[in-house]
Amino acid sequence: MVELTVNGNAYELEAPVGRTLAETLRLDLGLTGTKIACGEGHCGACTVQLDGVPVLSCITLVHTVREREVTTIEGLREHPLIEAFVEADATQCGFCTPGQIVSASALLAANAKPGAEEIKHAMAGNLCRCGTYPKIERAIHAVASGGEGH
Ligand code: FES
Ligand code: FES
Repeated sequence: MVELTVNGNAYELEAPVGRTLAETLRLDLGLTGTKIACGEGHCGACTVQLDGVPVLSCITLVHTVREREVTTIEGLREHPLIEAFVEADATQCGFCTPGQIVSASALLAANAKPGAEEIKHAMAGNLCRCGTYPKIERAIHAVASGGEGH
């Protein structure tokens, strides 16, 4: 059995050896906002936060996250980045977007006023096949300059 806290909710579930956090979130808990694209730790689509730090859930075994707080895109519904991404038109196909917002929210929680280079650095692990990077950066800047980074 694995005990998990996800978005403030406690869960206890069976998990076979080798089960990834991404699989557990999507298949066992129905939290399908977390995407699996490459499945190999290259693209960032599966990014969630562990104790506020972005991690790649496709290469994180669920047995390693006991007693840690997992935050997924579903836990960030009220975050100002959601509206900022819409305003900046920062989504095309949308597949990378949950991971982008999870990473960006961790950045803003650690640094409410990041500069352009800090944003690029923090977001470097999140790839976007649609090439929306300038708009993603604009959305993050908008929240940072609004002083709502949390
Ligand atoms: S799906 Fe996890 S890094 Fe690509
Ligand atoms: S919006 Fe399509 S991959 Fe980023």
